[in-house]
Amino acid sequence: MNNQLPLDAFDAPLIELWHASESDKGEIFTKNQIVHFMIAASGIPHAITARKTRILEPSCGQGEFLIHLAKILCDELKKTSDKLSLTELGQKIVGYEISDSNLRVAREKLKKVLSDHFSENDSNYLVESWLRHEDFLLAECEGQFSHVIGNPPYIRVENIPKPILSLYRQKFPTMSDRADIYIGFFEKGLQSLAPGGKLSFICTDRWIKNQYGRKLRALIDSGRFNVDYYLDLFGKDPFHRKVLTYPAITQISRNQKSRTLVVQSDSACPIELFNTIETKTKPKSDLINAREDIGNGESPWLLGNSSETAVVQRLERQFPSLEEAGCKIFIGAATGNNKVFVVDEDVDIEFDRKVPLVTAKDIRTGAIVEGGQFLINTYDEDGVVDLDDYPKLKKYLTKHKDALSSRHVAKTQPQRWYKTIDRVYPERAKREKLLIPDIKSNLTVIHENGRLHPNNSLYYICSDTWDLRALQAVLLAGIGRLFIETYSTKVANGFLRFQSQHLRRICIPHWENLHASVRDELIKAGETNNHTLAVSVVKDLYNITDSESELIGI
Ligand SMILES: C[S@@+](CC[C@H](N)C(=O)[O-])C[C@H]1O[C@@H](n2cnc3c(N)ncnc32)[C@H](O)[C@@H]1O
Repeated sequence: MNNQLPLDAFDAPLIELWHASESDKGEIFTKNQIVHFMIAASGIPHAITARKTRILEPSCGQGEFLIHLAKILCDELKKTSDKLSLTELGQKIVGYEISDSNLRVAREKLKKVLSDHFSENDSNYLVESWLRHEDFLLAECEGQFSHVIGNPPYIRVENIPKPILSLYRQKFPTMSDRADIYIGFFEKGLQSLAPGGKLSFICTDRWIKNQYGRKLRALIDSGRFNVDYYLDLFGKDPFHRKVLTYPAITQISRNQKSRTLVVQSDSACPIELFNTIETKTKPKSDLINAREDIGNGESPWLLGNSSETAVVQRLERQFPSLEEAGCKIFIGAATGNNKVFVVDEDVDIEFDRKVPLVTAKDIRTGAIVEGGQFLINTYDEDGVVDLDDYPKLKKYLTKHKDALSSRHVAKTQPQRWYKTIDRVYPERAKREKLLIPDIKSNLTVIHENGRLHPNNSLYYICSDTWDLRALQAVLLAGIGRLFIETYSTKVANGFLRFQSQHLRRICIPHWENLHASVRDELIKAGETNNHTLAVSVVKDLYNITDSESELIGI
């Protein structure tokens, strides 16, 4: 990866910066079946020859969407008596792409398809008018579009050349936090819509729930747009290459907010979907649910079963969040090089620089199996330590100076090349805590007495109010899973991410409001790992009715 661009990079044509960067450009091509589905559901086939129809493909790759559009155009032109001029046809479709090799492929394939209806000269004219070798986010787009359709690139912030990222952020307010490039594609795509126009993207589902998607969610919920349909492709392979996150198709129109059709499977009929959206009628298929409650400012979208969502919303109204109830959520320390900073007891460095460590591996069995490892602490109360005060530590770290200096954190502060990314807090190791691994198929909550410091793939909860054994019982009785499943998107193999932003959503009663007998029972359930007891106490505690219990599986 090469994001270290020269200082004069701002002077270079911006597309050259992309070419100079060796990072992945998010090239994941869409399978035909999905392209056909999205185009049919957006109503393009019957609208394509209308004069006001203009279609934008913001990241056209090797032409997956454009080729299908060109075929439809040729077929429909044969049927219509209303002759469109070549100039009008040349303005009908616009496709952007930063990779010239992808564009070359798209150009050749398009010419071949167009030759079915147009002369060689006219095909060449159309292809040259349609394709733009430009960065879509920085290009000047002329006019508005009735349809924006495609599969935007998925490029993480650290892989976007810095000068370009800062321009994107100036232009697109939704690209906040650690927003991926596709967030900007949504914003610019929505801005490009004519009134009534439709944007249809296939893309990872992360943004509908996570922190960096919040401004985009707020934009969509601003009253100017409606989410027409959302199709979760969990467990499907819609691309030619395997991806680690789960994709979804979202169609958003520039219409007043009304309802969203949540589609359960891509085996739903796209034409029926289009008709149900247009006629605002009741969906005929069981695979399509009409929902009025999608979108609430910046809040995550809750697209699961609507009755399950209603239970979560009731609990949120009646109970405070974990933090409001006096629990704190922390993330274990990231070092930037565990091979160097995680050591065995016999490594010869000053005793007070070694903090006993617990890792996700140590709790894999569901209990703590200590690996006898230690985390090197490069901090004290005043900040990063001076290595001259710790000669043994200095000798050890200096042996690894090259590796440690190449970390991002060391480059930003070269004189502190030996510090870990996160501060290590020995006093937190000494606190009783609940440990939760970052990614798992099931929520795991392990009690730790107060000796070990968690490392980076572990979250941990400490509390001055709640008894942690009792809290462990509440979380494991199903309350933790209910909130996490509602707010977290799934990652590879259907695993959930137990990130702090999701853990913070969990609601629990105030400890001081619990009757002494309830407290005792919860503590007992936690200490003895008695799931049945925990579930029965938790049902009473949250007033969970039998029908709610059936819905949420508690
Ligand atoms: C996910 S692929 C999708 C390609 C095609 N639309 C499809 O569905 O198969 C995204 C494409 O966007 C291109 N790309 C990346 N950044 C871009 C940018 N800033 N402007 C235009 N295209 C970009 C990549 O080169 C890649 O071909």
